[in-house]
Amino acid sequence: MATISIASDKGGVSKTTCAILFASELALDGYRVTLIDADLNQQAVAFGRKTDIAGLKVVGEVREDNILALLRKAEGESEVVLVDLPGGSSTLALKALHRSHFVLVPSQASLPDVRAAMKTVAQIDDAQELARSPIARAIVWTRVLSGFESRSARHVRQSVEGEGQVPILRTAVMERAAFREIHITGHVPRQVDPNGSAAANVAAFTAELLQRISTLAEAA
Ligand SMILES: Nc1ncnc2c1ncn2[C@@H]1O[C@H](COP(=O)(O)OP(=O)(O)O)[C@@H](O)[C@H]1O
Ligand SMILES: [Mg+2]
Repeated sequence: MATISIASDKGGVSKTTCAILFASELALDGYRVTLIDADLNQQAVAFGRKTDIAGLKVVGEVREDNILALLRKAEGESEVVLVDLPGGSSTLALKALHRSHFVLVPSQASLPDVRAAMKTVAQIDDAQELARSPIARAIVWTRVLSGFESRSARHVRQSVEGEGQVPILRTAVMERAAFREIHITGHVPRQVDPNGSAAANVAAFTAELLQRISTLAEAA
């Protein structure tokens, strides 16, 4: 169905967290999902060893010279392929972006993070030019604290949204202890507390992303 990369120049902005949550939610919904962990830290691979979700496969040991073969294999086996990319530009990242139908760019609402997100958007533009066809993208605000938004965060968010050049998901990924605990337990919020707010946040984020991707597929 779709190959989706999760990319941002900056570390700690929730790329791996979003990748695991989105992949797990889709697999729990019954999709066959492959998550390709292209980061040296292999945090998604470690989660993959702990998880008991049928239909979710996590692939590690990704290199510049095997990424295309891994993508081809995953696309043959799965309905959704996700690539969790490391920060920074590289041949590996360019190959994955080039091959993606959609790129999700997680960013916190702070100026350094938004600058890093815009660098990633420029990399997507380069991959798109190489591909000679559009690569859809969206920013998702991550690690958002519940309660009042700080003035600086609101200012940054409003200025990016005001520019309107990159689509932004309506759903933000909140800062939640439950999202950190996935690495310890190997369980996602829907498995731990299906009626809780963390599970609801993942469901809303997944539904919105899925809707964007299916709209793309219809347009193609
Ligand atoms: N939404 C969130 N709520 C709570 N903790 C988070 C959230 N997003 C990320 N973290 C924590 O922050 C750290 C870095 O997140 P990670 O997803 O690995 O970022 P990245 O892949 O962009 O480097 C991890 O310890 C992770 O558990
Ligand atoms: Mg990561």
